[in-house]
Amino acid sequence: MKVLSILNEKGGVGKSFIATQFAYFCRYKLGNRVLVIDLDQQGNSGDILSASGLCQPASVFSGKIMKEGVPIEANSTFMVVKGDDSLLELSDVGDDGIVTYNLSKAITDVQDNFDICIIDCPPSADVRQFAALSVATDYLVPFQVKAESIAGVDKTLSRATVIKDSINPDLNFLGLLMSLVRMQGIQKSNYEALLKTMGHILLKRYDPKTKTESGVCCITDRSEYAAAQQMKRPVFFSENGQTRKEALEVARVWITLIHQLGLPIKKPIKIEKDPQTGKLREVPSPIEQFKPTVSDEENAQEQVTNA
Ligand SMILES: Nc1ncnc2c1ncn2[C@@H]1O[C@H](COP(=O)(O)OP(=O)(O)O)[C@@H](O)[C@H]1O
Ligand SMILES: [Mg+2]
Repeated sequence: MKVLSILNEKGGVGKSFIATQFAYFCRYKLGNRVLVIDLDQQGNSGDILSASGLCQPASVFSGKIMKEGVPIEANSTFMVVKGDDSLLELSDVGDDGIVTYNLSKAITDVQDNFDICIIDCPPSADVRQFAALSVATDYLVPFQVKAESIAGVDKTLSRATVIKDSINPDLNFLGLLMSLVRMQGIQKSNYEALLKTMGHILLKRYDPKTKTESGVCCITDRSEYAAAQQMKRPVFFSENGQTRKEALEVARVWITLIHQLGLPIKKPIKIEKDPQTGKLREVPSPIEQFKPTVSDEENAQEQVTNA
């Protein structure tokens, strides 16, 4: 199981958007088994995912896992461990090592139940960030091309380097991911300056057709993305079944992450709106649909395009 931590000490840079929407994509376009752990007491990703109707909330909150070592009961293939105010009591434990161990143990115990675990971090550099980097196989740092957001990135990266050097030598940095991009005015000149200093660590875009990297990944600031989050649905879901161009655009970022993480490509799963509850649900698939899968990224790209 891959463990992807999404972090930046700054809030409002799109961490929870990426955590939730990448989770939906992995579940429904790749057919992966997905666990999301929300370490932010504001609980955005936990609330969105559980209210969508698609994702099963775990019976335990993330604060309780880290404070008391309570395990995660894996009883679904798409689950979220929600965050609440108990996350603010972690300093009461008085030992960051125990808090980190508790999270690590809970994740290790369910590693055969999921293909990917996505950890959505809070906008702070406390024990939660330390623990998330200590237990991760990979981490991703979304940021906005704004001076204050770029400054925060430096601090996050140096903390991650210390953890890699001291605790988690296999920790892999996927890159900086530009988020909420409006490539005009000050953002454009910031971007040009950024390319010179940090160009080498920006997440490169992977093209599954040519199997090469070209250009950099970015997530544009689009009202469709904010709307999808507010309505607690995947960007790619539309009731009339029509493909949204914004979904195809952001899928290029997800495909890059999938490639970098080496996630398995299984059978996509259809979703629909339950007319009674108004929530989304998985469409049960007839057994004969479960044919051998083709583990090929081009195939995934096609599935996205045809979705
Ligand atoms: N690419 C985007 N385009 C438009 N709105 C976005 C985008 N990414 C995030 N948002 C919205 O911006 C706000 C902050 O994003 P969020 O993911 O919660 O940031 P963070 O988790 O880093 O604090 C949320 O209301 C979210 O829906
Ligand atoms: Mg958040």
